[in-house]
Amino acid sequence: MADDIGSFELNTGARIPSLGLGTWQSSPGLVGDAVATAVKAGYRHIDCAQRYGNEKEIGLVLKKLFEDGVVNREDLWITSKLWCTDHAPEDVLEALDRTLRDLQLDYVDLYLIHWPVRLKKGSVSFAPENLVEPDIPCTWRAMETLYDSGKARAIGVSNFSTKKLSDLLDVARVPPAVVQVECHPSWQQAKLHSFCKSKGIHVSGYSPLGSPGTTWIKGDVLQNPILHMVAEKLRKTPAQVALRWGLQMGHSALPKSTNEARIKENSDVFGWSIPEDLLAKLSEIEQARLVRGTNFVHDTFGPYRSVEELWDGEI
Ligand code: A2P
Repeated sequence: MADDIGSFELNTGARIPSLGLGTWQSSPGLVGDAVATAVKAGYRHIDCAQRYGNEKEIGLVLKKLFEDGVVNREDLWITSKLWCTDHAPEDVLEALDRTLRDLQLDYVDLYLIHWPVRLKKGSVSFAPENLVEPDIPCTWRAMETLYDSGKARAIGVSNFSTKKLSDLLDVARVPPAVVQVECHPSWQQAKLHSFCKSKGIHVSGYSPLGSPGTTWIKGDVLQNPILHMVAEKLRKTPAQVALRWGLQMGHSALPKSTNEARIKENSDVFGWSIPEDLLAKLSEIEQARLVRGTNFVHDTFGPYRSVEELWDGEI
């Protein structure tokens, strides 16, 4: 994908493609076609997670894309994530092996701790009694082992606040290469963004469109009037402006779609740019975290008594 901002360099020296296909909430039966459509449309980055329950189907499609010569493994960036039930060091290795089996790969380009939250091993629900105290330094040491082994070519975290990331940096032998968080014009992550910039950590934005269609998410990023005004001026769609905004801020963006037209629409974010004056307008948009992690907060169980505690006040 030829462009000014086609990829970003990580602290490992690798380059992460700036546009990735999100697969959270991509239904089994649809996700495979979405991955194939995206790769054929020029996407070189697929964002996966064991928790999404669709890695097997993605693996089948990746295998076919490689066999058919549509893309080479080394030209594709695959991210996956360690689920909260697998934080014990002995489970970390096993979890990545399961993901690699499902994806039919020898390595992932990036492996992330999905949440700074631990659930009892084997638990399938977010029932409060399944919430236990995480030991991030201990889990991170196991992640470092995966990095050393080459099965994860970069490691990082997801859904970490600035404080949690800073605490991790204090103990990490291998610093995280990426923090993946909710990021879009209505939740710009200004504090985390400047911290990461100072530490050489790349920010990857999930829900870059605000996840319209997710019933429990309150707020409609794509309907924001300032975003609409900018889109009209640039003759682009609000989704394209939201994604291009992320790229120009230095973030990779991971829009999810299983719809061919929207997968293509979301890839038209190169070869044009949002000028400074309109970027300034976008910076005026009212801010609100949409993915609040309320499932992980309980007044009796687990380490977080409130959403404020989970995000260390960044809400
Ligand atoms: P669909 O899969 O039917 O295209 P996010 O990436 O922020 O989580 O948002 C994903 C949601 O946004 C999905 O419901 C997806 O639906 C929808 N979506 C993806 N691309 C666009 C677009 N260009 N315009 C409007 N909605 C979109």
